[in-house]
Amino acid sequence: MGENTHHSLRHDFTNYKTYPLFTQDRATGDEQFNYYGVHPFYTCLESDGQSHGILYLSSNAMEYTLLPEPGLSFKTLGGVLDMFVFVGDSPGHVIELYTSLIGRPILPPFWGLGYQLTRWGFKNTDDLRAVIDRNQKANVPLDVMYMDIDYMDQYHDFSYNRQSFAGLPQLIHETKLNDNLHWTLILDPAIEAVEKDNPVFMDGYNRDVYVKWDKSIAKQDRYNPPNVPSDRDVLYGKVWPRGPAAFPDFFKNVTHEWWIRWVGQLHKDLQFDALWIDMNEPANQNDQIYHCPQNKYDYPAVRTKALYGNGVRELGHKTLCMTTKQGDHNEYLHYDVHSLYGLTETMATQKAIHAATGKRGFAVSRSTYVSSGRYGTHWLGDNFSVWDNMKFSIIGILEFNMFGINFVGPDICGFLSNTTPELCKRWHQLGAFYPFSRNHNCIGNRDQDPASWITAGHPEVTDAMKVAFSLRYKLLPYFYTLFYKGHTRGQTVARPLFHEFPTDNNTHSIDEQFMFGPAVLVSPFLYEGQKQVKAYLPDTNTVWYDLNLNQSKPGYVVIDDNGMIPVHLRGGYILPISSEPNHVNTRTVREGGLNLLVLPDQSGRAVGDFFWDDGDSIDTIEKLEYNYYTFSLENNTLDLTVEKLNYKTKQLIKLIEIVSSSEGQTWTVTLDGKPLPLEVKVHGGVAQIPVNIDLIGKSVGEKWSLKWKPAF
Ligand code: GLC
Repeated sequence: MGENTHHSLRHDFTNYKTYPLFTQDRATGDEQFNYYGVHPFYTCLESDGQSHGILYLSSNAMEYTLLPEPGLSFKTLGGVLDMFVFVGDSPGHVIELYTSLIGRPILPPFWGLGYQLTRWGFKNTDDLRAVIDRNQKANVPLDVMYMDIDYMDQYHDFSYNRQSFAGLPQLIHETKLNDNLHWTLILDPAIEAVEKDNPVFMDGYNRDVYVKWDKSIAKQDRYNPPNVPSDRDVLYGKVWPRGPAAFPDFFKNVTHEWWIRWVGQLHKDLQFDALWIDMNEPANQNDQIYHCPQNKYDYPAVRTKALYGNGVRELGHKTLCMTTKQGDHNEYLHYDVHSLYGLTETMATQKAIHAATGKRGFAVSRSTYVSSGRYGTHWLGDNFSVWDNMKFSIIGILEFNMFGINFVGPDICGFLSNTTPELCKRWHQLGAFYPFSRNHNCIGNRDQDPASWITAGHPEVTDAMKVAFSLRYKLLPYFYTLFYKGHTRGQTVARPLFHEFPTDNNTHSIDEQFMFGPAVLVSPFLYEGQKQVKAYLPDTNTVWYDLNLNQSKPGYVVIDDNGMIPVHLRGGYILPISSEPNHVNTRTVREGGLNLLVLPDQSGRAVGDFFWDDGDSIDTIEKLEYNYYTFSLENNTLDLTVEKLNYKTKQLIKLIEIVSSSEGQTWTVTLDGKPLPLEVKVHGGVAQIPVNIDLIGKSVGEKWSLKWKPAF
């Protein structure tokens, strides 16, 4: 259930905990509050490893209480309540069923899987350029830069400050061309209601795009500020711009047209690749201007926790009054559709990005609802630079993967308050394994971008971040294939251990470790001063390998800090990885070759797959513009089968690395029956077999077959 900050992934049924669900702008961390999104969906693991999930599809304010029976009490403040039950063979299967109903998550662009950097508080283009430069100079991998609200003129959407950010169009242009950087700009819903300097507002007013008061609310109760047009019943509030602002109603078709038009205009000035949509709960500091008029929607007779938990009197606190109207025919009461604001804005924004850029991009939204993953993605909102918030982020990314939004991550190093070198280092080591990996910082806080630690006297922090991210970049072909399976089959990308090992009871409560796909187990350092991690390697029959490809026995293990985040690889899998050791952006991953890392299980078998497309076009899967390969290992034979082949760009497998316990043995190897020129020796537990397999060299249904046997 979400979006709440749960302090454990497994629910605590003993303490009658009640959680509210109603979208709200509020910094995260505490258990008792409702946050940015609403996902009234839970899953249950049954004692035999089977699983079910239940979706209570209602968009009204809700709350749920966990009862000791065990039981769940669920309350909603009205409206439609549809209930869906998903009966699955396993917990992962339940998510596949759930996303078959609500829609599968987007496929992110390949560059989006690289490292992303932002902060609030850039003063001007030079300031921004200096941060990019210092990170590039330090060889920090960097793929995506963000611009927070600083770039705007008077916090007007679709504008930029032509004094302090005069050089921004040029900087974006240059860094895209030379450094493969991609850019994401922030947009907020609130549009300042001034005619001068803000043509966007009047265009929207004339087209009638804004959320309106219900006609039953008397004019004098609407607290209209002076000097705003009032003949269309528009509600005005206050967000970043100085003056009153109106809120686009994304339920309306005309609003989508208007939004697409202005996003397109913006793209002419600033060639962004993706958009960051914030404050879309929607946030409103209306308490500075008015309280909502007396009525049964803003002051409901049943006081849900969304009200009393937040210590406020009205449901419209810090958002729009509940008696406003939305929809093409004013058919929706905000009371009923409040929590859908972010979802509808995400739908419009995805269309607008596609229209403006002609590319896939993504819309990263603060507010989400059931189905948001089909249109965009999510970051976990405002967190704090404190240790426990790093731990809670693991629970957050696992929950959002179950909600069908797999490209998700928190603000690395923490957003509010000042981070520390140690926390920021540990957070990057963990962050190398977030599906969406972005460092973000609040205005006024000390710098926390990787290279800033060099000038701050902590070059070891920068180095540790680079080590962690070089592993991420190496694994990106495997990661991207997981997102393909998210988009096509509804499989999660980051997932709890119990999704892979449901019958191993020891996994059920684990939330300080997680799996990245089926084959990578991550056991991060999460505590200040921590020198060792106690990790659990599940299932007595599983073979685990550490990053040096040494076997680790299943069970509880203690791992010393050796400069890397503890990661284990699971026997039985074949991972496509980058053949190059160092990357400064995803371009070199795409342009370099691949290695296959073959990790046999106890019986010498393994499976794997690889998805590849141009990484950037819209709907490549739907249009069948991609390649897909499956790999299998059995009886010392590795087969690479072509399943789909429509992206005909040369892609080489350079090296096949087979982990083997026959240390020192020499092998003769054949590829498709022909002997390879050199014998191969198992050295350090691995046989490295150089090949040069051009993955577009065979047709669908054909395969390459690599066989080996001891030379004597
Ligand atoms: C909100 C966002 C945060 C952003 C800030 C300024 O607090 O959650 O990420 O930096 O607004 O735009």
